[in-house]
Amino acid sequence: MAKVTISTLDKMKAAGEKFVCITAYDATFARLVSEAGAETILVGDSLGMVLQGHDSTIPVTIADMEYHTRSVDRASPHSLVIADMPFMTYATVTEAMSNATRLMQAGAQMVKMEGGVWLSDTISALVERGIPVCAHLGLTPQSVNAFGGYRVQGRTPKEAKSILADAVEIQDAGASLLVLECVPADLATDISRKLDIPVIGIGAGAGTDAQVLVMHDLLGLSDHQPRFVESFF
Ligand code: KIV
Repeated sequence: MAKVTISTLDKMKAAGEKFVCITAYDATFARLVSEAGAETILVGDSLGMVLQGHDSTIPVTIADMEYHTRSVDRASPHSLVIADMPFMTYATVTEAMSNATRLMQAGAQMVKMEGGVWLSDTISALVERGIPVCAHLGLTPQSVNAFGGYRVQGRTPKEAKSILADAVEIQDAGASLLVLECVPADLATDISRKLDIPVIGIGAGAGTDAQVLVMHDLLGLSDHQPRFVESFF
């Protein structure tokens, strides 16, 4: 199987073909996921919860992400590898450039950051320098304390409008992909139709261009199984 690139995903969106993203944090599971044909693998900072036992992603460090990205990249001949930038490692453009460099040198082919309009300068700076970016909107887990819990976002017309505006802005800034987490299905479908870049949903209905799941949820191994995860076992 040929290596998946951004242009593979763009072509799939244009052809109306859906694709898959699954988290992996080590070589064994990355190989299984890649050989099973998943187009993309996310080295998610969800590893802070499913591997490290924290109750949020906030304690995850850039060194943790580098380590797991290296392991995943060695075993992903087919899938495009996206690595999460941890909490506060992209608070300024300068920090984002230096930390994204570490993840790209560890083997990522794209970095993911949580945020909308405020991230557009950072996204442009990285993209101009050759680092592809996936943005993440809706329920952005690194902001759990600001949200007051893990709650569906974009329920009111005002919130929905703001998420749509963020999505358009990050696309204009040069992001290649967008993850939309825990937003109403009609909002996710609308954003997926309006954007040219592929939109990957999680807990956001079936109308997005792709779906992402945390592997431990998919395998039924998590303590708290999210309601939107189908139990395959
Ligand atoms: O860290 C992660 O696994 C994620 C997914 C839930 C999208 O960001």
